[in-house]
Amino acid sequence: MTPVLDLRREARRDPLEIPGLDAIPAEERAAALANWRERMVSEHASARVFAALIPRLMAAGVARRHVAAVSAMIGQELDHAVLCARVVVALGGEAKLPLPPLTAVPAHEDAGPLEGLLRDVISVSCCSETVAVALVATEREQAGTASLRGVLGKILADEVKHARFGWRLLDEVGPTLDARTRARLSAYLVAVFEHQIAFHSPFLRLPSASDRAVSLGAPDGPSNWRVFVDTITGVTIPGLERHGLDAERAFRRATSAVLAA
Ligand SMILES: [Fe+2]
Ligand SMILES: [Fe+2]
Repeated sequence: MTPVLDLRREARRDPLEIPGLDAIPAEERAAALANWRERMVSEHASARVFAALIPRLMAAGVARRHVAAVSAMIGQELDHAVLCARVVVALGGEAKLPLPPLTAVPAHEDAGPLEGLLRDVISVSCCSETVAVALVATEREQAGTASLRGVLGKILADEVKHARFGWRLLDEVGPTLDARTRARLSAYLVAVFEHQIAFHSPFLRLPSASDRAVSLGAPDGPSNWRVFVDTITGVTIPGLERHGLDAERAFRRATSAVLAA
């Protein structure tokens, strides 16, 4: 049986008002609604990524405060899904959707505890969450109502914490890494970037959306792709290079592998 995410009750408990909806054409409302429904599910599914980090943080013996911070992030992602559910209901949709297949979190059997943890932290915080910060900040700027700005502001404040956690951990343990571990992490980065490119490249097939649709939360494909590339090349790659990881070369190799496929 396919698991279902049903947040109708949570959304009803605290309804959200989006004024002026009647003036917006149905297809633009529908594009925004589809995106908020998709986001509701992906925010909920993100909770499991942070949950999987807990045993890894413990195995690597990092400070308790990191374990506590990541434990809180599990709840924050679940809360983001409820915020999205409130927008879904306000846009006239149903906050109930099947959960997509949840991909297994990599086991990293070929790596020691710290290296395995860093692979995940780089992928989750330094890539996914860092890109999320840029995307959500852009959306918040474009939001058409105070209620949507409020929702995006709450999500953004947490995504900033999720991104910073990884960069801080890397600042802490990066200087202790030996050359061999740095080389192994650099090699692993190719797969990390391939995954990121594969995840974000569907934006390239999405058309541009009108300003009015974007103000409700409809995605603008070309602009989202630009934000992704700018963040990876302007923030993630220089940040990883500072720790002696060959991120630039890894991104070039990932790009050519994806283009050749
Ligand atoms: Fe989130
Ligand atoms: Fe997050």
